[in-house]
Amino acid sequence: MTNYLVVGSGLFGATFAYEAAKRGNHVKVIEKRDHIAGNIYTKEVDGIQVHQYGAHIFHTSNKEIWEYINQFVEFNRYTNSPVANYKGEIYNLPFNMNTFNKLWGVATPAEAAAKIAEQRKVLGDKTPENLEEQAISLIGTDIYKKLIKGYTEKQWGQKATELPAFIIRRLPVRLTYDNNYFNDTYQGIPIGGYTQIIEKMLDSDLIDVETGVDFFDKKQEYIDQYDKVIFTGMIDQFFNYQLGELEYRSLRFETEEMDIDNYQGNAVVNYTDAETPYTRVIEHKHFEFGKGDKNKTIVTKEYPANWSRGDEPYYPINNDKNNRLYKAYRDLSSTEPKVVFGGRLGQYRYYDMHQVIHAALQVVKDELKD
Ligand code: FDA
Repeated sequence: MTNYLVVGSGLFGATFAYEAAKRGNHVKVIEKRDHIAGNIYTKEVDGIQVHQYGAHIFHTSNKEIWEYINQFVEFNRYTNSPVANYKGEIYNLPFNMNTFNKLWGVATPAEAAAKIAEQRKVLGDKTPENLEEQAISLIGTDIYKKLIKGYTEKQWGQKATELPAFIIRRLPVRLTYDNNYFNDTYQGIPIGGYTQIIEKMLDSDLIDVETGVDFFDKKQEYIDQYDKVIFTGMIDQFFNYQLGELEYRSLRFETEEMDIDNYQGNAVVNYTDAETPYTRVIEHKHFEFGKGDKNKTIVTKEYPANWSRGDEPYYPINNDKNNRLYKAYRDLSSTEPKVVFGGRLGQYRYYDMHQVIHAALQVVKDELKD
């Protein structure tokens, strides 16, 4: 039997804790926020599950992962079909025949493809050197101007001409009338929210959970006290930023309760113009097909924000510079044989939920050899 300390009660930490306890190990989970579940935390307000840290849609093509998560919760048949609002004009996403029809009046895939090909010509033979050129080379000028430029510049806080092309190496473009954002085999929203998944994972006599506790208050004591530490916080912070700071993008959420049933008719609306300061508006009840109070709705505006120490590090910025620095921290982690780094902050990777579970189960395999 091993005594584990898991730092962070998000999906990575909870998956590890569940598997470790299942095998008879003791697990202490500490969480610095005042609640469990990390960024997948949902909270019920007026019978509506509010995604406190941004819209979370579970999607995967990995049958094992889908079956794994389904042991904890039942999913509804939600299909992500966001719409874009450009100065009051509404377009379907991802870019598909519905988008092209609204934009250009074209009805067939051949007409749409011809239009895109014609608009790409402005670049000539030039190899795209920045995000603007890359986007135009993939989808033409109209979509770039109305649906990509403003949104992306707000998201990254930089001009599209200054952003690297690699950010949009691919764009989901479909020449079919299909508004389903994901190509994955399975997707949905857990009926009753995400928090219950983590509650069930941590519900064991062998798991002790403490919230409102920061690992860094007693770092060395914790390391000495436990046989092994699974750390899902920021890897650069763990090493006291000794090799330099990794960069992140942050977000600010503004949530409002309204005395109406239906505000925007869709769970996710992207605001793609440059003037609107937020990027997305989430109306939570639509993730569960309008469940909840009929006279209320909860709406969250998502504002991209620069990150500095102390802010929530929502997105790692995986450019070459940061990836090199992360690798240096990873090399440094060999000096801490009792610590395993995991999750989107410990591994400095933009992980979706299914990828986090997969990565945690990989650590389980290495760590808890059956
Ligand atoms: P997570 O951040 O959830 O958990 C880490 C935990 O560690 C946190 O609770 C933190 O407080 C705690 N912690 C950190 N440092 C600590 C310390 N020093 N002491 C104690 N505790 C500490 N994915 C997807 O599949 N579909 C989607 O639609 C979305 N949407 C989405 C929207 C937004 C806005 C974001 C930011 C992310 C998504 N995701 C997503 C990704 C998803 O949120 C992500 O894959 C998982 O939540 C990551 O789980 P982790 O456990 O790795 O980190």
